[in-house]
Amino acid sequence: MDHNALKKAAAEAALAFIEPGMVIGVGTGSTVNYFIDALASRKDDLRGAVASSEATAARLREHGIPVLDLNNVDELPIYVDGADEVNAHREMIKGGGGALTREKIIAAVARKFICVVDESKKVQRLGGFPLPVEVIPMARSHVARRLAALGGQPKYREGFVTDNGNVILDVHRLDVSRPLKLEEQLNSITGVVTNGLFALRPADLVLIATSQGVERY
Ligand code: A5P
Repeated sequence: MDHNALKKAAAEAALAFIEPGMVIGVGTGSTVNYFIDALASRKDDLRGAVASSEATAARLREHGIPVLDLNNVDELPIYVDGADEVNAHREMIKGGGGALTREKIIAAVARKFICVVDESKKVQRLGGFPLPVEVIPMARSHVARRLAALGGQPKYREGFVTDNGNVILDVHRLDVSRPLKLEEQLNSITGVVTNGLFALRPADLVLIATSQGVERY
């Protein structure tokens, strides 16, 4: 099976977790797009969705699914999102699509974070995928120097502005052998808005599509 068929299978497996009247957190990316398209058939069951990006909000609206402001939602039972890498502890690197900040906020609020991936995303050790770091524009050079001091090679994602008006540094060659510690270290650099490590708040469940079917852990 190709990657797209696997992404679709993982995304559709998440539908089983939807219960009537729920508000659902919806992530960003090509895997989640399959989830949104499948969600359309359940839209009468839903109270609405909270979107992790403008792109996701637009796709939800196209399907007639109400998009709610997170500030007006007191309960978010599930959040469905993809990942760029996920390890056996359900820790992830996210932000390949640049939506990491809103993704982390929704993950913080959600009771259950369901990560939907194809098998190519499963890694022994995080860090093969360059780590996205969202930065306040005027702090870009300062943050890049600090990232280099940590052993990384930051690359400015040129021509890309996040939904929050910030820029992204994609950090290559970082040692991610201690994800929790690194996430905290990166959070403490002045000018960093969010980093794409999800170790302080890992997923609660990973639905991973393989050619043998969708497995969970
Ligand atoms: C978006 O910013 C990311 O965190 C996505 O969840 C991640 O890039 C996965 O995207 P795909 O589903 O397109 O691989």
